[in-house]
Amino acid sequence: MSEVKFEVWTEKYRPVTLSEVRGQDEIIDRLKAFVSSKSMPHLLFAGMQGTGKTTSFLALAKDLYGDEWKDNVLELNASDDRGINIVRTSIKDFARTKTVSEKVPFKLIFLDEADALTKDAQHALRRTMEDYTSNVRFCLSCNYSSKIIPPIQSRCAIFRFRPLKREVIVQLLKDIAIREKLIIPEESSTYIYDASEGDCRKAENILQACSAIAENVTLDVVREVVSFAEPTELYEIIKLALAGNFKSAKDKMSDILVKYGLSGMDAIRQIQKQIWNSPDFDDKLKVKLIKFCGEYEYRLTEGANEFVQLNAFLAEVVLIGNELSPTK
Ligand SMILES: Nc1ncnc2c1ncn2[C@@H]1O[C@H](COP(=O)(O)OP(=O)(O)OP(=O)(O)O)[C@@H](O)[C@H]1O
Ligand SMILES: [Mg+2]
Repeated sequence: MSEVKFEVWTEKYRPVTLSEVRGQDEIIDRLKAFVSSKSMPHLLFAGMQGTGKTTSFLALAKDLYGDEWKDNVLELNASDDRGINIVRTSIKDFARTKTVSEKVPFKLIFLDEADALTKDAQHALRRTMEDYTSNVRFCLSCNYSSKIIPPIQSRCAIFRFRPLKREVIVQLLKDIAIREKLIIPEESSTYIYDASEGDCRKAENILQACSAIAENVTLDVVREVVSFAEPTELYEIIKLALAGNFKSAKDKMSDILVKYGLSGMDAIRQIQKQIWNSPDFDDKLKVKLIKFCGEYEYRLTEGANEFVQLNAFLAEVVLIGNELSPTK
């Protein structure tokens, strides 16, 4: 019986084995060495989203254990349940039991978004890591390794996942296009790469969205899809704030976050990009604004409240606007 199923391409094209992971050659070579020696330290995967951290972990597990990988792996998301309980219960329960595989003398625990764990939870985790080192290896994944406490960092081999290079993403898009029977000119894949900023998930999602519009993925189609994900309204908000209209800017900002499903971090990053590319602002103004983008992006990565920070950011922009035309 055949059944038409909607598939998300990021899952459909997720590499299964380590050899299929693209553009992270040094990391993959080191992971392959762990597979052949069947021994490894605890791992810390750090880097931008969509660069292959979860994928490489799963591929490592499949290469290590073959078909029985699921029996040997515990996957947890630290941000599901911030705090200490997750470390104390699920990890301990899994870690306590003997290893199942006859070939490999340890089991694996993958802790995604480990940087969401509180410091207390991280200290508890560190102790758990030590208690079960004889039969469990941890692989922690995070965007920022600086948010992981030093005692954990020093117990792990650290792998830094870089944004994927242009040629890697362009080739990936070409390969998917062949499988999906799409036509994709070079200029379109280059445009998608630019919009993805080296995030493979984002590049694949853009291509899938384009494919819903046309089989011939022209530059116009890509632009249409990308501009929806990068609303130019954000730029309008900055102009409003510069003109001193704080309240309208603030209201519009909340509307846009909801309408496009953007996080505060997405918004700041796109604003930064749009300021940089703006034909209306001179270099001095750009530099001032971009300095604040950096500051507020950092605060958001540290977990500050999005709405409070975005409003504070807009307030800074209003003040910059006042400096420009103090009479207003
Ligand atoms: N290096 C890569 N080679 C091939 N495909 C990749 C690679 N990195 C990411 N992808 C694609 O992007 C999707 C998302 O990647 P993955 O889940 O590994 O990202 P991540 O680094 O764990 O991101 P996050 O920080 O958001 O968890 C994968 O399912 C796969 O389709
Ligand atoms: Mg991941």
